[in-house]
Amino acid sequence: MVLLNCRIRNFRILLDENIQFDENLTVISGPNGSGKTSILEAIYFASCGRSFRSRNIQHLLMFSRKWFRVEVRMDNHYLDARYKLPEKQKEIFLNGEKEKLSVVSTAFPFFVFNQRSLDVVKGGRKNAYLFFNKVLMRLFSGYIRSLSAYRIALNNKRLLLKKMAGNDMIKAWNCVLEEQRGKLTKQRIWLISVLNTLLPEDVEIQYLPSQPGKALDSFLTVEREKQIVLAGSHLDRYRLLRQGKDVREYGSSGQQKRLFFDVITAVGHLFHQQRGIRPVLLLDDFDSEFDKANVVRNLDRVMGQFQVVVTTTDHQRFFSFPQELVQLKSEEKGRVE
Ligand SMILES: Nc1ncnc2c1ncn2[C@@H]1O[C@H](COP(=O)(O)OP(=O)(O)O)[C@@H](O)[C@H]1O
Ligand SMILES: [Mg+2]
Repeated sequence: MVLLNCRIRNFRILLDENIQFDENLTVISGPNGSGKTSILEAIYFASCGRSFRSRNIQHLLMFSRKWFRVEVRMDNHYLDARYKLPEKQKEIFLNGEKEKLSVVSTAFPFFVFNQRSLDVVKGGRKNAYLFFNKVLMRLFSGYIRSLSAYRIALNNKRLLLKKMAGNDMIKAWNCVLEEQRGKLTKQRIWLISVLNTLLPEDVEIQYLPSQPGKALDSFLTVEREKQIVLAGSHLDRYRLLRQGKDVREYGSSGQQKRLFFDVITAVGHLFHQQRGIRPVLLLDDFDSEFDKANVVRNLDRVMGQFQVVVTTTDHQRFFSFPQELVQLKSEEKGRVE
């Protein structure tokens, strides 16, 4: 997969932009507020129908406009994502045919690296949990099915606990939960063990399933007392370690950022292995917490293996790499030079 160019219309600050990409490195440079992140966001939206910074798609629509459109051309595919009011309808066309979001979002490995994704390393348990879920969802459609079956059963079980329903009814949902738990655990173990082989020597991810080896039914008495669910796949945890130490507790900001970059890189390699597709890394404000030596070193590690698009306020920091340079200006809000 090679990202060739994109056309973005009425998307946030971007009125109508055409952007060409280099097959290895594209540097999008401009002052704050010039629309750099919006470009990455638009590409990401076309690849999965979601934004990485807003839940509400309407926020992506340029103020006072009624539709936006993002067209992404790759060497062998053409994505065309559209959104319009008043229907609030989003549609993605793949090579001219309307396609399901679930198909599109598992087909194109665009990975985002930004300030917020650092929460996977820095933030609470839930962040890493959701991140690895997303990775698995993009690798296997079966994982999405197991996860939604699990969630439905979990909600039903919670309702029954609140209603103080009888043991048998709750056990029936535990039965569904156990079945999906088995599948989810297996896929999570697989993912983490493969990622660990792809990570640098000193980095390790630990997967800690909730209450391993204990049947869900064995918590039933206490669960009914407290009316909350005490065990199951939704309580699984991950730890990120460098040199055996938890990076959330001991890492500096720069170290946390580097570790997350290691993880993203490993995930990229995994997609490459599994699918034979070279992923695209969308690195937002990539240089912001790295010193210059680290920018060069980290980029060097992925150059050639992935297609990389970085945004920066200072493109000089990337001068040592051959690149396509896209310069945005603040006065002309989002205009590509
Ligand atoms: N829906 C929208 N319509 C028009 N402009 C928007 C919209 N959402 C955000 N903006 C503007 O876009 C700019 C932010 O763009 P962004 O891509 O985050 O810039 P950068 O990453 O270069 O700092 C801000 O000036 C903001 O006011
Ligand atoms: Mg930005």
